[in-house]
Amino acid sequence: MSNSGKSDFFYPKEDVIAQANVNEYEKMYEYSVNDREGFWEEQAETLGWYKKWDNVLDDSDAPHYKWFDGGEINIVHNAIDRHIAGPNRNKMAIIWEGENGQVRNYSYNGLNREVCQFANVLKSMGVNKGDIVTIYMPQIPELVFAMLACAKIGAIHSVVYGGFSTEALASRIDDANSRILITADGGWRRGKQIDLKSIADDAMQRTPSIEVCICVKNNQLEVEMEPARDFWLHDLKSLPIASSQCETEHTGAEDPLFILYTSGTTGKPKGMLHTHGGYAVYTSTTHRMAFDIKPQDRWWCAADPGWITGHSYIVYGPLINGATIMLYEGAPNYPYPNRWWQIVEKYGINILYTSPTAIRGLMRFGDRWPKKHDLSSLRLLGSVGEPINPEAWRWYHHVIGQDKCPIIDTWWQTETGGFMICPLPITPLKPGSAAKPFFGNEIGLIDEDGNDTPLNEEGKLIIKNPWPGMARTIFKDKERYADLYWFKQDNDQWYYLAGDSAKIDEDGYIWVIGRMDEVLKVSGYRLGTSEVESALVSHPKVSEAAAVGLPHELKGNAIHTFVILKEGIVPNQALEIELKAHVGGEMGKIAVPELVEFVTVLPKTRSGKIMRRVLKARALGQDEGDLSTLEE
Ligand code: WT7
Repeated sequence: MSNSGKSDFFYPKEDVIAQANVNEYEKMYEYSVNDREGFWEEQAETLGWYKKWDNVLDDSDAPHYKWFDGGEINIVHNAIDRHIAGPNRNKMAIIWEGENGQVRNYSYNGLNREVCQFANVLKSMGVNKGDIVTIYMPQIPELVFAMLACAKIGAIHSVVYGGFSTEALASRIDDANSRILITADGGWRRGKQIDLKSIADDAMQRTPSIEVCICVKNNQLEVEMEPARDFWLHDLKSLPIASSQCETEHTGAEDPLFILYTSGTTGKPKGMLHTHGGYAVYTSTTHRMAFDIKPQDRWWCAADPGWITGHSYIVYGPLINGATIMLYEGAPNYPYPNRWWQIVEKYGINILYTSPTAIRGLMRFGDRWPKKHDLSSLRLLGSVGEPINPEAWRWYHHVIGQDKCPIIDTWWQTETGGFMICPLPITPLKPGSAAKPFFGNEIGLIDEDGNDTPLNEEGKLIIKNPWPGMARTIFKDKERYADLYWFKQDNDQWYYLAGDSAKIDEDGYIWVIGRMDEVLKVSGYRLGTSEVESALVSHPKVSEAAAVGLPHELKGNAIHTFVILKEGIVPNQALEIELKAHVGGEMGKIAVPELVEFVTVLPKTRSGKIMRRVLKARALGQDEGDLSTLEE
């Protein structure tokens, strides 16, 4: 997809350069990597701290780095408290639109009231500092309130994406051993009510740890409420204990803020753990510099708060920066394919940040839908989640951005907490490249032997330094975190291995190619082949299964599965449909395979590992490569 080096530059317009928050890259970059701690200390000083740190970076236990240790901060103090004490008090913090057209607005002051009440409700349910609260919600303001309420009292949130289903939710509750679940009766999608509470009920059946379930009323679904376990939020909020005042807990910079599960190469999803201090510094700095955020800006990150993109760039980064954030619950093309463009026009959105999948999906409906609307409020556009193909980039730039909005293509991961590679608004752009490292980061590419890859050749993407937004560990598995992500180079330096492959061209532009491991990016969502396989194998008729990702025009990758049935079971189309529905029921719609192919054997190594590479090559009609490890 990338045509590295050959493409022409797109130069930013003068007015973009004139008003940029950062108007020079090279010198500042050099400074930021030569004096990394100095650079990050300056950024940290822009935030509110209860107590200053002892050390900017503590690398005594590398690769378990600590940032701003000894400091006391609460991310909510920065995202809310500081604003309501100053001129942002009555500024709009959240504009929410539901799919059915319902609108709710919250000023920073209003947001504070909601978060305080929610925090008091959590306290009354016995939630203490350090407890893990699981949140499973549709895209409604209460999802944001719940996250901030946890952070405010020093509890740790674990948000499970509302599109996931029973098993995905149950296994995450289990791993976190959560005592409290926050959910809603349901959500809306394409005019239909999605019954979240009953999925939550099934998940609670499968795991013993939940003692209290707080349910938000969001639609008209009849739900079952189990006495003494399930409570309506509106009932709890009407109790005297739920006052709209609540002290923000003083947390340590290195105290956990949240865990967020993400798919890895093997086994169950890993709970990536992020902390209050470094994460606050990193998300706000990257957001302010890469997206040039201004006090009057209306910022729309059209992701779900349930993924890292939403954590970092719907909730924390933008609120710390005092922006007005847009939230929309619903499908981009409901009731018509102009829904998003209508929102941009109606609310005067200045910056839109979305995924290549969404762009391709909307591009498919043609130019006439965006052309119905005045999109002139847009100043910058963003992309995230997978490489953006140059056609989609050009459409986004020309039709949506009207040739005047730079496209900020941001490469990062759940593990990195924030942008690692991205242009600034002043950076000349090449469609399909995420451009250059963000400040403080040194990016490299290495081959199988650990040597630097030559220009324009594919290599494994590594980050040669720690950064404040990095995940601190995999929840409950410090060793696995170090083993999976960090390795020591001959020069005694610790390097972070991203799991992606990439190229760097003669201009220093980085072209990310994609995952090298068993992680799939389907419509920008991250899934593990092993999770799809386990979901299939949990069906009583399935004996073995393998999943691979194959290129797909809209989704980037689509899941193809190969299934061996149990003895005596006859494959047919009805069973194929049943298996797809089963995966949907266990994992959620995003994991439903595009294709279920029935086979009698799977290619395996002598040690019994499925050779997905071989399956993929066969499906694509390509050379199967080295088969020397294939079992007879
Ligand atoms: C993986 C991380 C980070 C927010 C959303 C995804 C891929 C992400 C880009 C980009 C090319 C990208 C990588 C990465 N990816 N952004 N701009 N260009 N690839 O977070 O779910 O943890 O997925 O997404 O493969 O490793 P995530």
